[in-house]
Amino acid sequence: MLLIIKISSLSLRAAAQSKLGHYTDAIKDCEKAIAIDSKYSKAYGRMGLALTAMNKFQEAVTSYQKALDLDPENDSYKSNLKIAEQKLREGSSPTGTGLSFDMASLINNPAFISMAASLMQNPQVQQLGQQFAQQIQQQNPELIEQLRNHIRSRSFSSSAEEHS
Ligand SMILES: *[C@@H]1O[C@H](CO)[C@@H](O)[C@H](O)[C@H]1NC(C)=O
Repeated sequence: MLLIIKISSLSLRAAAQSKLGHYTDAIKDCEKAIAIDSKYSKAYGRMGLALTAMNKFQEAVTSYQKALDLDPENDSYKSNLKIAEQKLREGSSPTGTGLSFDMASLINNPAFISMAASLMQNPQVQQLGQQFAQQIQQQNPELIEQLRNHIRSRSFSSSAEEHS
């Protein structure tokens, strides 16, 4: 009984950490839950989500497959597995520009996001940043939109104290 509580709290914490962008911590909690109960499909499912968010698509596919082995009826594992497989194909596609893959991993890197956010708030680099953004927008409109959303949500927390 105690173990079940421990496993589900680890799994819930993993889900919360994924929401906060703490994917490495989320994966650690999933691994702990699996170490206690290797048949706990939700831990594999959540680990798959965190791995997908980190662009570790091969590992995400493995994790979802394990979740589906344990819970073959679950449609959300099936569709998440398809997404990860799709991304895996895109990532290794020889026709890809390479840019989309790099941008995707950058966008999931908190250090890059805060750097980009402070850069874009600096008027001197704003013009340059816009050129860069336009270039990416032409090649990959979806990613620049994601980046904007990330920066927007972060800009709210850092108050505008630049005009003293
Ligand atoms: C499938 O798994 C997800 C994630 O663990 C869970 O939220 C959902 O309730 C499950 N669905 C079914 C039909 O078991």
